[in-house]
Amino acid sequence: MKKTFLILFLLILILKISGQKYDLAKTPPMGWNSWNHFGCDINEKIIKEVADAIVSSGMRDAGYVYINIDDCWHGKRDSLGFIHPDNERFPSGIKAIADYVHSKGLKLGIYSDAGWRTCGGKPGSRGYEFQDAITYAKWGIDYLKYDWCNTDGLKADEAYKTMLHALIAAKRPIVFSICEWGDNKPWLWAKDIGHLWRTTGDIYPCFDCEYGHGSWVSNGILQILDKQKDLRQYAGPGHWNDPDMLEVGNGMSVSEDRAHFSLWCMLAAPLITGHDPRNMTKETLEILTNKEVIAVDQDSLGIQCFKMLDYGDLEIYAKPMSKGRLAICFLNRGLSVQKAQLDWKNHNIYDGLSGLNYEFSKKVYKIRNLWTKNDIGTTENRFIADVPPHDVVMLLLSPIK
Ligand code: GLA
Repeated sequence: MKKTFLILFLLILILKISGQKYDLAKTPPMGWNSWNHFGCDINEKIIKEVADAIVSSGMRDAGYVYINIDDCWHGKRDSLGFIHPDNERFPSGIKAIADYVHSKGLKLGIYSDAGWRTCGGKPGSRGYEFQDAITYAKWGIDYLKYDWCNTDGLKADEAYKTMLHALIAAKRPIVFSICEWGDNKPWLWAKDIGHLWRTTGDIYPCFDCEYGHGSWVSNGILQILDKQKDLRQYAGPGHWNDPDMLEVGNGMSVSEDRAHFSLWCMLAAPLITGHDPRNMTKETLEILTNKEVIAVDQDSLGIQCFKMLDYGDLEIYAKPMSKGRLAICFLNRGLSVQKAQLDWKNHNIYDGLSGLNYEFSKKVYKIRNLWTKNDIGTTENRFIADVPPHDVVMLLLSPIK
């Protein structure tokens, strides 16, 4: 009898800890993360002030709802193994911050690592996955970024699955952000585990460069863009390719920031900003809150763009959208002005992945320039525009009934 109970108990436990990921992130998650601007130098005052600024600037109302605390919030584990925040930097505790951001209509994200230690050398979740997930749920966490430092000997899919099971057992819907930099091709195995997965190493705030850190390299905007090209078939509602957090407002020129933001929206990328919202320029805010460009990213079909034409420094990207619409982005990768020209009727577009068809020779579309916010005619006429260096021209084509 005892044995039957034990088997039954184990069965229930297994059923409870396996199961499906939470049905979240139907469109790419939007929010802010502390890492790109602040690195390890964070505390509860900064996080709360950022949350205030996200609300007062209008960013929350534009869709940026996750306030994500990245590496270095950690203190020590207690004698039972429960993790606590650094009590000098976060004296009120994480739950108090969660309550604070929730009271403002925002959500709270936190960071951990599948290994023994995080990339910043803080306690990782290896061996404490279920305890950590319960702790996050108790605190009221809504989003977990889970990194991949110090994981020698671990198998990525299994390690991320373990944390997924822990999150399910903790019973709080938490967006699960896989951050193993594309090393183990997460697009092949993570669809049912996480809601987004990093496809590349860390981003660096330069438009066209690689930045060496000794044993590893971080990537500029174009370097990351080029690494996305074979990945579009793996992304869609609830499971996104993540080309890393935004660097808008972190030192690039306004043109470069605009191009970076436009491209991330074309890629249907998560829009997690990485600047200091307490102290941003008017241009940074204007870029980040351009609702028509954000709508391209957040389109319900969740289709990632593809490169439609390549003229060297000038490239043209296309993103099929709902309601028969299409976003087009002319990118100037170079340092001199490029003339963009397109005779639509000669460029019918068929997207083999989505099966969507744009027959400009048969159907007329009206055209809106999403950065100048002007309606600029239809696809009956040839499109001509100058694209400034390291900049874009971004259009939305909508069928005329
Ligand atoms: C890794 C991640 C970054 C950031 C740092 C924190 O490098 O890719 O996004 O989270 O760790 O240490």
